Order: sequence, then C-alpha cells, then structure tokens
Amino acid sequence: MFLPNTRALAVVCWIMCVRITVSQASVPAPVLNFASSVNESNIVLNTLLVVSCYAPRGAPYPLTLSVGRLESPSQTPETTEPWVTSQVVNYASSVDFNIPAIAKYEGKIVCWYQSTRTELKNSYSEFSNTVPLVVSALPPPTVSLHPSVFLVGGNYTVYCDSTAGPVTNFTLSLYYRILPVTPGTNWTFAGSVFLTDGNRIYSRYTNAVVQIEFVCTMGMLYNGKVLHSLQSKIEQAIPEELPVRLWEQNRGESCLGDLDVKIRGMWEPVCQQEVNASVAIATANVVCRELGCGHVLVWRILENNRHFSGKIGGFRCSGKEEKTRDCPMNENESCKNRGSLYIVCSDALPPPKLSVMTYGPVPKLYGYIVFRKNGVILRDQYSKPGTSASITQSYEVAGEYDCVYRLYSSKIQLVSQPSNTVFIYIYNPPDPVPIVAGVLTTVIGIAILTYICIYRTATQEVQGNEFPAHSQDPATNAENPYPTVHIPQQP
Ligand SMILES: *[C@@H]1O[C@H](CO)[C@@H](O)[C@H](O)[C@H]1NC(C)=O
Ligand SMILES: *[C@@H]1O[C@H](CO)[C@@H](O)[C@H](O)[C@H]1NC(C)=O
Ligand SMILES: *[C@@H]1O[C@H](CO)[C@@H](O)[C@H](O)[C@H]1NC(C)=O
Ligand SMILES: *[C@@H]1O[C@H](CO)[C@@H](O)[C@H](O)[C@H]1NC(C)=O
Ligand SMILES: *[C@@H]1O[C@H](CO)[C@@H](O)[C@H](O)[C@H]1NC(C)=O
Ligand SMILES: *[C@@H]1O[C@H](CO)[C@@H](O)[C@H](O)[C@H]1NC(C)=O
Repeated sequence: MFLPNTRALAVVCWIMCVRITVSQASVPAPVLNFASSVNESNIVLNTLLVVSCYAPRGAPYPLTLSVGRLESPSQTPETTEPWVTSQVVNYASSVDFNIPAIAKYEGKIVCWYQSTRTELKNSYSEFSNTVPLVVSALPPPTVSLHPSVFLVGGNYTVYCDSTAGPVTNFTLSLYYRILPVTPGTNWTFAGSVFLTDGNRIYSRYTNAVVQIEFVCTMGMLYNGKVLHSLQSKIEQAIPEELPVRLWEQNRGESCLGDLDVKIRGMWEPVCQQEVNASVAIATANVVCRELGCGHVLVWRILENNRHFSGKIGGFRCSGKEEKTRDCPMNENESCKNRGSLYIVCSDALPPPKLSVMTYGPVPKLYGYIVFRKNGVILRDQYSKPGTSASITQSYEVAGEYDCVYRLYSSKIQLVSQPSNTVFIYIYNPPDPVPIVAGVLTTVIGIAILTYICIYRTATQEVQGNEFPAHSQDPATNAENPYPTVHIPQQP
C-alpha cells in the first residue's frame, strides 16, 4: 500500500517536474521594450508610444501577443485584461503596439502571449519584463504672430497655442525679451493664463517700435504630477520699414529691375504672382515714385529663381500710396511659380545733358564750341556768344563726351573748363529677359542723339547743368525715333 503510493507520487512528481521544466524551457517569456523613438524619461502627454513585444523562438506558434498593465503580484496573463491583442503570429518576431501616453495607460506595462494550439493544456506564457509608462512632459506650445509682418508703429498680436491635444485645466505662460539679446538677458514674464476651456492665449501690442522675441511654456497638474513643457520655439516680432529697391543681378540697384523688399534685414524679391494689370501698374508707379525714379514705363511679371522666403507676398497698391509699404499686401503669397514684378521706371532712361559753365565775367566774344569724345576732338564749331551748338552722332556712339569753349582771339588761346561728362554705353542684356530687349532698343534709339553744348556769357546767370532738358518719351514717340534734347533759346 505504502510503497505503491510512494511510487505513484514519484511518478506524479516526475511527470510534473519534467512537464514544468519542459514548459519553462520550451515556452519562454516574451520581451517588452519601448521602441527606440521613445525617450522613457520624457514621455509627452497625448503622444502615441510604440512598445515592441517579442515572442522568442521556441514559443508554441502560432500565437497572439497582448499588452496590458501589471497591477498586483498575484496577477497572471489569464486573469489580465489585454489593452490590445495582436493578430496571429506564426514565427518568432516582434509586434509593435501603439499606446497613448495618457493617465489610463500609466503604470507597469507587460506583454504576454497565448498559443492558438488547442492541444496545449496551458496556452499562456508568463508575463514579460515590465516597462514603466509615466507621462512626464507636455509638448512645447507654439508661438505665432499675427500679422507676421507688420510696420513700424503697427499693431500685432502674439498667440500661444497648446499642442497637447484634448486637455483642460492647464496654464500657458508667455515670456519676452528685447532684441538684440545680450549675454545675461533673461526672459521677462509677460503673463500666464489658466485655461479650463480652449487652447490659446494672446497678447496684443500696439504702435510697435521695439524689436522683441517671445517664447511660451505650458504647465499642468496631471494624474497627481506637475508636468511642464519645454520652451516653445522663439518667435521674433520685428517692426519693419519695408524699404523697396529695383535690382538686377548684373546691374545692381537702379531705376529698373525686380521689385525687392528688405525684410528681417535681408533683401528678397517680392512674390507677385497674380497679374492684374491695373494693380501691377499702380504698384509699379508707387515704387518708381518712392525710389525717386519718375513714373513707370514698363512692368512685367517675370520668372525669378532667386530665394523667396515667402514672408511677404504681392503688393496691391491703388496708386495713391506714398510708399510701397502703405499698400495692402498678401502675407503669404504662394510663390510656386516664382514670379516677381520687374519694373522699368522713366528715370532708367534719362535724357542726356551737356553744358559748358563759364566763370567770372566773360566779354561778348566770338569763339568755338569744341565737342570731344574720349578726349579726342569731334568737332570745333564756330559760335556766337550766347548761342548753342550741337552735333549728331549716328554710329559708334558709345563713349565719353564733353565740350569746352575756346575763345576766338588771335592774341590769346583761352579754353574754358570742360563741361560735365556724358557717358554713353550700350547695354547688352542677358538673354532670356524679353523686357530688357525692349530696353536695349530704346537705349540704342536714344543713344543716337544730338548733344547740345551751350555757352552762356556771364551777363546771363550761369545755370550749370540745370537747364530743363525735356525729351520726348522715346517709348511713345514713333514719328521721331531719335529725339533731340531741346534747349531753350537764350535771349
Ligand atoms: C530624454 O529626456 C530627458 C529629459 O527631457 C533628456 O534629458 C534626455 O537627454 C533625453 N534622452 C534622449 C536620448 O533624448
Ligand atoms: C493700432 O491700434 C490702435 C489702438 O487699437 C489704433 O488706434 C491704431 O489705429 C492701430 N494702428 C494700426 C496701424 O492699425
Ligand atoms: C478643471 O478645473 C475645474 C475647477 O478649477 C474643475 O471643476 C474641473 O473638474 C477640472 N477639470 C478637469 C478635467 O480636471
Ligand atoms: C538671469 O537668470 C540667471 C539664472 O536664473 C540669474 O543668475 C541672472 O542673475 C539673471 N540675470 C538677470 C540680468 O536678471
Ligand atoms: C484688378 O484689381 C482691381 C482692384 O482689386 C479690380 O477692381 C479689378 O477688377 C481687377 N481687374 C481684373 C482684370 O481682375
Ligand atoms: C496664409 O496661408 C495659410 C495656410 O496656408 C492660409 O490659411 C491663410 O489664409 C493664408 N493667408 C493669406 C492672407 O493668404
């Protein structure tokens, strides 16, 4: 009786011990990890965390993997409610689970698997290692300005927005400091608001003249912990003068070129994609006027491969504005087509002037007006006092022109100071810019012109170069392609 019983026990024990050993050897526990993208000590509220559960080789495949929380030591996989269970897995691999970083899922998380084989008595594995999920941070809020570009003396609003998703009862705090930042300058607290509703605070600034930068932070009490965000990105509020210029790669700044604006201290082309002729011509006129370049002759929207920051878009002038910056503008014009406004103002083609100044009392003497080109005499023309003389050049016009007055006297050779110098050059435009071709022909047209050298005696007030040289607009004058410069006759 006794003996067989012992034997039976031994057999039972053998079976159990071996089975346990076998099950421990052939049914290994899975392994749980955060994915490498997760910083365990900086888990941001309302983000999705990726955990990987790995069922090793030797597990009784096929199986399903589950994730849940370990709440008490007596808990087993069988008695644990899974948050999520994977599809059936047929071979050793890890399965990723997305767990929202919210209070509901905080704690020690574990994973386990269950074999789908029906012949197994206990189809569950052990728990994996535990991984602590503690929400410990808030995402940084965002700061923005509206409008993002504003003028000196203008108004703007700075906004701070929570990016933490659907949360309530938190605090947003705004800080600022004056630019330029010097070492040791700290942020000054501008204010904070406890929000039970909404996700935005703002502060309005009027008549802005000071350059400031802003940051914002968020804080809240969450599941018994105080959470803080990192600082938002810095947003600078720079009151802009928005000066404009007309600029071209190989010419620099002049009275023709792309419309550029200086924003944040950098010149960039104005993105002017929309072509509304009346708006464009009005804008071009305001630009020409602001630059002291006269009025607009021609405008085009031209492709431009320079850098556009996209901070500022097309001006929409009415034509009455004094400065371009007073015109309505689009804050963020899409610059996919990279169109910019190319303007030729009337002063890009100024009429040439040439005159001779005299000094001191000059007797009414007869003499010669001497035209020179590149220092070489072109013509020496006999002239009565107080009258003007002219020459016309029709080929090889490029050069440096001036004139002098030489007294007609057998006794003395007296020559006046030279006049101002007029440089004529021919501008060869870069190729694919059709507008400049237009300019070229006009320049050549205007270059074949008549220079007038005027000599005045001292009895008439010497006016130097200031006589009103009026020229007919070469672009509009079809009848007279080579306009002359008319000098009012001296009395
Ligand atoms: C994780 O977050 C902590 C706290 O914000 C930070 O100090 C640490 O550098 C971060 N680690 C990594 C690898 O990003
Ligand atoms: C700025 O705001 C002040 C006060 O609200 C207002 O009087 C002024 O006209 C505003 N200035 C501009 C340029 O909008
Ligand atoms: C937010 O705070 C108010 C009072 O300050 C409280 O009544 C409310 O329950 C809180 N809401 C949450 C979600 O904590
Ligand atoms: C800026 O903050 C640091 C650290 O908080 C402090 O030591 C320093 O005195 C502050 N500087 C100024 C100018 O307030
Ligand atoms: C151009 O814009 C002006 C002012 O916005 C508008 O009155 C006019 O109708 C527009 N013209 C065209 C052709 O779109
Ligand atoms: C600027 O762009 C944003 C987003 O692309 C758009 O919602 C907004 O209406 C635009 N503003 C203007 C003035 O075009």
